[in-house]
Order: sequence, then C-alpha cells, then structure tokens
Amino acid sequence: MKKLMVGNWKMNKTVKDCAEFFEIFNKGFTEKCEAWIASQAIHFPLVEELKTTSTKAGLQNCSEHVEGAYTGEISPRALRDMNGHFVILGHSERRQYFGETSRSLNAKIRTALKEGLAVIYCVGETLPEREAGHTLSLIEDQLHQGLNDQSLATAENLIIAYEPVWAIGTGKTASPAQAQEVHAHIRQMLKNKYPSFGDKTRILYGGSVKPDNVTELLAQKDIDGGLVGGASLKAKDFLALCGDK
Ligand code: 13P
Repeated sequence: MKKLMVGNWKMNKTVKDCAEFFEIFNKGFTEKCEAWIASQAIHFPLVEELKTTSTKAGLQNCSEHVEGAYTGEISPRALRDMNGHFVILGHSERRQYFGETSRSLNAKIRTALKEGLAVIYCVGETLPEREAGHTLSLIEDQLHQGLNDQSLATAENLIIAYEPVWAIGTGKTASPAQAQEVHAHIRQMLKNKYPSFGDKTRILYGGSVKPDNVTELLAQKDIDGGLVGGASLKAKDFLALCGDK
C-alpha cells in the first residue's frame, strides 16, 4: 500500500499562499504516495478548486453535530457536501487549547464517520508523561475512549496519528525506534479491537517530520505515513516528503 502524507496547515496561509503552493505541488506530484491537505475551514473551497483530483482535501476539526444552532462550528455534513474527504480529530492543540478530551472526541468521530468522512484520530503523550513512563498506557486510554463503540470504522475511513506532543513544532523528532515502539503498540491494540482490519489500519507519525528524517521514519514497519505541520507549508518540502523533487 502507498504511504499517506497528510499536510496539516493549521491556522496558516493566505489565498496567495494557497495558489502558490498548488502551482508548484501540482507540477511535481507523481503519486508515489497519497497526499492529503487539511487547510483552515475558510480556505477549503479554494483548496478544492486549486488541487488536482489525486490530492484529497479535508479539515482540522469538525463538530459532533451535523447541523443546527451551534454558532461558529463546522458541520461534518457540510464538509462532506463540499466534497471534503477527511477530518483530523483530537490534535493535541485542540486538546490543549480547546478542552477536547478523548471522551468528547468519541462523539465527533462517530458523527464524522456516519457522515462519510475519513477520520485521522490523533493520540500522543506530553514530555512529563513520557518521562514518567506513562506513554503506552496513556495512548491506550486515548484509543479506548476515542474508539469505543465506533461500529462504522473500516480500514479505509479510520486512520490513527501518533504525535508525541513534545515533538510538535519543536524540531525534536521521536527517533525512528521510539516512534516504532509506540506504533507497534497501537498496531497490536488495533488488531485486538478490529480483528478483520486492524493490521491494515494506517498509523501515521507526526512531530517535526522533515525531508531529512522522513525516509528513516517511513522505513519502520508500522509507520504508514506522516502527519506534517511546518514542512507541509512549503510545496517543495511537502513534495520531498511525498518522494518527489
Ligand atoms: P510539525 O510537523 O510542525 O512538528 O507539526 C506536527 C503536527 O502537529 C501535525 O499535525
């Protein structure tokens, strides 16, 4: 299966930046891997228009509700209706700054899957949690709570991203061995939880993925791709992550 490279643009870019990105990216992308882009919600229609069909577009968050009186929220139904392919849920920045918890995310995941979106569910430990030796048990809890009773999950629509919080935007990457240890643990949990497809569920690594460390990370047995912040903003870097020049 091809590796999956997802660009999380976070709260970045202008209209001009988006146009410049796709002008370069569309020319260089040769589909050696799958490429997905999660832009700000306001730029979604623009990204849809600028990208080619081989790149998929999605968002970084959505509501647990499909419609109604929820001022300022993003409807997963509206996202799907606009041709959105996926949504990132449970990013550590959402957990840290917007009070999201694995329990509240459980409802968002359920609604997004029901509406036909693929979900990239993020898990990961902080530095104090790692240093206290709690990494694996914490990730187990995040997975149990977020994935509890998700009967609509399949190998295609559920993707897990392991993002150690201490490696996000810091330039500190988990070593390939550190990442693989956690990915192998997640893989085992997924196999237990979903005997029919857990071995095929894609598990992405995120946290300071860059052109110069991506090859070693992707060479690990249970790393099926990357969830990339900073290095996804420049088309040249994102192309390099996708195996293109
Ligand atoms: P960086 O690649 O900038 O470390 O961000 C990772 C991330 O948070 C992707 O979701």
